[in-house]
Amino acid sequence: MRVDHPISLAGTATTKGYMSGFANEFATEAVPCALPAGQNSPQRAPLGLYAEQLSGTAFTMPRAEMRRTWLYRVRPSAAQPAFRSLEHIAIDAGFERASPNRLRWDPHPAPTVATDLIDGLAPIATTCLAPHDGVTAYRYAANRSMERVFYSADGEWLFVPHEGRHRFVTECGVLELGPGEICVIPRGMKFRLELHDDMAKGYICENHGAELRLPDLGPIGSNGLANPRDFLTPVAAFEEKGPTTLVAKFDGTLWQTELGHSPLDVVAWHGNNAPYKYDLFRFNAIGTISYDHPDPSIYTVLTSPSAVRGLANVDFVIFPPRWLVAENTFRPPWYHRNLMNELMGLVTGVYDAKADGFVPGGVSLHPRMSAHGPDARTTERAEAAPLEPHRIEGTMAFMFETHALFRPSAFPGFNATVQPDYDSCWDGLEGRFRRDAR
Ligand SMILES: [Fe+2]
Repeated sequence: MRVDHPISLAGTATTKGYMSGFANEFATEAVPCALPAGQNSPQRAPLGLYAEQLSGTAFTMPRAEMRRTWLYRVRPSAAQPAFRSLEHIAIDAGFERASPNRLRWDPHPAPTVATDLIDGLAPIATTCLAPHDGVTAYRYAANRSMERVFYSADGEWLFVPHEGRHRFVTECGVLELGPGEICVIPRGMKFRLELHDDMAKGYICENHGAELRLPDLGPIGSNGLANPRDFLTPVAAFEEKGPTTLVAKFDGTLWQTELGHSPLDVVAWHGNNAPYKYDLFRFNAIGTISYDHPDPSIYTVLTSPSAVRGLANVDFVIFPPRWLVAENTFRPPWYHRNLMNELMGLVTGVYDAKADGFVPGGVSLHPRMSAHGPDARTTERAEAAPLEPHRIEGTMAFMFETHALFRPSAFPGFNATVQPDYDSCWDGLEGRFRRDAR
């Protein structure tokens, strides 16, 4: 695909537009003729630009899993001074040991002083077993746009905003999104988050493992769940600005250096290692039209496989608006104990397995084999409900589901939001077995 767009000559990257498809071999230029014809790295790149490859996967990955992009930029990224350590009160606090306890947290408090995305990052939990495995989950709350530029060498970042309109200015172009949409920024890609509103809040899944991709559909067939055409990748846009602080996340800590220019100076690019956005309300939800209901894997938007077939490093699963029509069926999620570890959040509305206590910005964590399911009030209601077709409206819950155990953040500010009485939501589920009941 070839896209030619108006020139963004200087200042903030303003070129807007998207290309449709999932991890396609895109090609885009903000200035005509900035892409070299027929080769990646000619002796001199067009227009005085420098050619630079950003590899998201090892060179020897199978072609179907290869992610790499060629960037044609004003200055090569190598033109930078040394990094020095950057302290961060929440990230540096580290993590607790994993426990079998079910945990739930209230929303992250809004900042009272000027706070950008980096300042406002608050780790929730990490798996961090190996450098190419597992995830780290965060919440964030920011009340000002970043002036700094950031990248993570530790993984790709999946953003799930639940408040405020977000503008991500990346090396590959500009992504605009708000609550109900997600975006994924590849490992190592530099970006800046700008705010359109007074506040931006959301969740992040930093995926340390294999790049997120669409799940296989099996017997579902060739369509359904998240459709590739609904994923949008930005067209090229660039800026030429003065001194910029570059912050890197590397091996679990932050580092920074000072550049004499903006590193968001990519004039053209081609490849498939690029950021993308997706509107969760476009998800084609599939469920039962007879009885019972399928496992929640039927709501998988994106998946990162592990080395074990069928065992996800992380699945990004949503619980979108949908019809419930199952006959003679307990319609909320059933009681269960699972191999996988489930970290849930809420973008908007109400989650159908909990009567209260789980609100947008909140988090719940149900570790491996820890029993959970609907609370007592939800069970009571569901067992008495008339089984007519019912539409769950105005909701969007999600889950980061991973095979690895989560270790909650040790940051005191995070611990202050824990709900000490979460277990009590299952109080009242008394034994009611009667041998002679018919
Ligand atoms: Fe669960």
